[in-house]
Amino acid sequence: MKVAVITGASRGIGLACARTLASNGFTIVGISRNIEPADPFSMTIKGDISDVESQTGIIDQIMCTFGRIDLLVNNAGVAPLKREDVLEAGVESFDRLMNINLRGPHFFTQAVVKTMLNNPSLKEKDDEQKGSVIFITSVSAVASSPERAEYCISKAGLSMSAQVYADRLAGSGVAVYEIRPGVIFTDMTAGVKEKYDQKIANGLIPEGRWGQPEDIARTVAALATGEIPFATGAVIEISGGMNIRHL
Ligand SMILES: NC(=O)c1ccc[n+]([C@@H]2O[C@H](COP(=O)([O-])OP(=O)(O)OC[C@H]3O[C@@H](n4cnc5c(N)ncnc54)[C@H](OP(=O)(O)O)[C@@H]3O)[C@@H](O)[C@H]2O)c1
Repeated sequence: MKVAVITGASRGIGLACARTLASNGFTIVGISRNIEPADPFSMTIKGDISDVESQTGIIDQIMCTFGRIDLLVNNAGVAPLKREDVLEAGVESFDRLMNINLRGPHFFTQAVVKTMLNNPSLKEKDDEQKGSVIFITSVSAVASSPERAEYCISKAGLSMSAQVYADRLAGSGVAVYEIRPGVIFTDMTAGVKEKYDQKIANGLIPEGRWGQPEDIARTVAALATGEIPFATGAVIEISGGMNIRHL
């Protein structure tokens, strides 16, 4: 039995990851502020990722029930409550995004990884991947949007958090990856659907469609099941080609 812990699992990308990983045989622990016990979860925990003080308790709860964590998907995240020009946007929104999108997942990863490193199977000398951590960042880690700077900055920071953990853990049996989604159709983007429908029609996304949560979930599953070996620290953009520079 391999246990996957997914933050922000109640809907959108996190829920798609939960379903896809469950169909790949993982036992699923889902964490969100609002989440109900239902398929595909074996355990649901109501928790706020920005509350660093509560994280040890959450991990104890998982370890008491399952005794192990094999995979962490750092997916919980929020957009600014309102888009505001970088010349006007204030400290409150900045702090909210840093706390939820960066500080919370950074320290949650630290605590989860310590339990992974205590897993006795890590000491076995073979080439098999023993544990993994997947950070869901965004193309906004590298693409500027001046009307939601705090989101871009939080994701750029999270991208470096992934690199630092990958560096620290390389060779330990715990692999660390970053997935950068492009424009994915979820609650987060529902409010800007018409704007992005227009942008997609005008060529924003070379593959010519919205991304779906399952596009990200299938990538998570490929990494989590060891289908992409020798790749710790990899940054994988799943954006329908938004990464292509062209003249
Ligand atoms: N949609 C996109 O186009 C897109 C693109 C690039 C990256 N992403 C990233 O992908 C991740 C998932 O986004 P999504 O589009 O699936 O968004 P979503 O549909 O709004 O889902 C966000 C999830 O995160 C949870 N969450 C939010 N704040 C939380 C907190 N403080 N503590 C614990 N859980 C929290 C939400 O549940 P509760 O509200 O109940 O807590 C929900 O389960 C985010 O990190 C987002 O930045 C999304």
